Amino acid sequence: MAAPPVRGLYVAEQATAGAQLYAIRCAMCHGARLEGTYEVPGLTGKFVANWGGRPLGDLSAYVGRAMPQFAPGTLSAEDNAKIVAFILQRNGYPAAPAGTPPGGLRGDAVLPAPPPPR
Ligand code: HEC
Repeated sequence: MAAPPVRGLYVAEQATAGAQLYAIRCAMCHGARLEGTYEVPGLTGKFVANWGGRPLGDLSAYVGRAMPQFAPGTLSAEDNAKIVAFILQRNGYPAAPAGTPPGGLRGDAVLPAPPPPR
């Protein structure tokens, strides 16, 4: 049975760390503001329509398997979770309440589409 949508899919510290990793490993293709280019999809906007309503684990698994495009499979699970947290944050998804220990992302949680109001 699918898990119900939850608030707080990531921890804010993860997203902060993920911003730096994103800048190094992803921004050259997806853009500093996740805007994408003519050839590379942006990671905001339509992105939510592509991944919303699916388990968050699907997105993490895709990133782990296929990205960064020229060196797929090179992200550690920890870095993967941080980068996905950053992408969720930039798409307006709320962080877990302060004090929640950073850990793996809730892979079973269904990504709400559109993001819930903050
Ligand atoms: C060399 C350029 C390049 C780099 C670096 C790169 N990507 Fe991508 N990314 C792409 C391209 C091109 C696609 C579209 C692939 C496709 O449609 O098969 C894509 C697709 C994606 C998607 C799916 C988007 C959607 O709307 O379905 C996600 C998520 C993603 N990338 C995340 C990342 C993350 C996170 C990183 C850094 C760890 C990263 N990418 C690094 C080129 C890149």
